Amino acid sequence: MNRTLVIAKPDAVRRGLAGEILARLERKGLRPVAVELRTIDEETAGRHYAEHAGKPFYGDLVSFITGGPSLVMVLEGPEDTWRIVRTMMGPTNPADAPPGTIRGDFGTVMTENLVHGSDGPESAAREIGIFFPELA
Ligand code: RTP
Ligand code: MG
Repeated sequence: MNRTLVIAKPDAVRRGLAGEILARLERKGLRPVAVELRTIDEETAGRHYAEHAGKPFYGDLVSFITGGPSLVMVLEGPEDTWRIVRTMMGPTNPADAPPGTIRGDFGTVMTENLVHGSDGPESAAREIGIFFPELA
């Protein structure tokens, strides 16, 4: 089995879509290993999004992700679970995301794109270690 980190971001929780996001991933066949409602602090956001430090959108990204509770999850599935989640999320910009994807069905703008999923096996291991060190 193979694990990945998923975050239903503050916009999803605020809009009552966190359960819908988890339900879609469960219906697909992934199993929750850890699920926690948590307001991400700045230090954790900085570690999580370290690859984006210094980019023009970084400040907005950190203030958005720390701006309210998120539903932080570890999901388990077969090989490349991270890729299954990314396919179900859709592209980063909801304007480009096709119907049937989470971002395509519920989002309109770049920052408020509802969901995070690890973008590879190394990211998954790194991010699970940040949010759920007991699982690493
Ligand atoms: P995420 O990490 O949140 O799952 O999103 P992602 O992999 O699809 O996209 P990534 O490139 O990692 O970007 C992280 C988040 O930063 C915001 N962003 N804004 N204005 C911009 O050009 C821009 N690019 C990225 C998005 O909110 C994205 O989710
Ligand atoms: Mg990313």
